[in-house]
Amino acid sequence: MSIDIKSSYDIFKIQQSCTIAAKILEKISKHIKPGISTEELNSICHKYITENQNAFPAALGYCGFPKSVCISINDVVCHGIPNQKTILNSGDILNIDVAIVKDGYYGDTSKMFCVDTENTKGLHLCKIAKKSLYLAIKSIRPGIKLREIGKIIQQYVESNNYSVVREYCGHGIGKNFHEPPQILHYDAYDQEIILKPGMIFTVEPMINAGSRYVYTMPDGWTVKTRDGSLSAQYEHTILVTQNGSKVMTLRSYENILI
Ligand code: MF3
Ligand code: CO
Ligand code: CO
Repeated sequence: MSIDIKSSYDIFKIQQSCTIAAKILEKISKHIKPGISTEELNSICHKYITENQNAFPAALGYCGFPKSVCISINDVVCHGIPNQKTILNSGDILNIDVAIVKDGYYGDTSKMFCVDTENTKGLHLCKIAKKSLYLAIKSIRPGIKLREIGKIIQQYVESNNYSVVREYCGHGIGKNFHEPPQILHYDAYDQEIILKPGMIFTVEPMINAGSRYVYTMPDGWTVKTRDGSLSAQYEHTILVTQNGSKVMTLRSYENILI
C-alpha cells in the first residue's frame, strides 16, 4: 500500500484532531495524584473528549479495546486497560495515550507522567524516551529515508543502556487511525521509503529500562516487560513539511529542544 500525501484540507482537519488530543494530555495532568484509579482518569478523558470537544475516543471499541484511553503504569509497556483496581501510587510512572477522531480525522499522542514523589530511575527513563522522540523529530524532513528515524532512536536509547521494544511501531494517520507507513523505532531493512512533504505519521518509541522483550497478558491487551523492568513511551503525530516537520500534537508548554 502506498503512503498518502495529505491535501491542505486533510492537514487542517488532522490538525484539529491533533490539537484536541494534545489538550486532553494537558487537562489530565492535574488529576495525576496518588489514590486516583486509572478508571477515573479514563472517565475524565472520555468526558472531556466527548462533551467538551465533541470528538470520539479512537481507542474505544478499536479491535474490541474496552476503554477510551490507554494507561500503562511502570512495567506496562502499552495498551494498559483503565480499571478501578489500578490506583496510582507515589513514585509510579505512567503513560496516557490519547487518540481521538473528529469529522473522520484522527490525532494520536501520548506522554509520561510521574506520580507525586520523584522516582529517579523512572524519571531518567522518561527523559531518555522523550529525548529519543525529539531527536527523531529533529531529523525529519523531505528527502531523508524513513529508516533514519529508527536508527536515531535505537542508537540514542542503546547508548544510554536502555532497549527499544520492537513489537510495536509508529504509523501513518489521517482518515484512518493506522495506515501506511509503519515507523520502526529501531534500524531495520525497509523499502527505502523517502519522506515527502504532506506525509503524516506518528513516532512513538517504547523504551525499556531492562531487556526489550515483552509479553501480552491474558486480557489480550496489556503488554508488559518480560523482566519486570520499567517502560516509558512518548508519541507525537508529525507532518512532513517543505523544509522539516511540524509536531501536530505539540502541547502548550512543550518545547522540542535538544
Ligand atoms: N494509541 C495507540 C497508538 O499509538 C493505539 C491504541 S489501540 C488500543 O497507536 F486499542 F489499544 F487503544
Ligand atoms: Co499511535
Ligand atoms: Co497512541
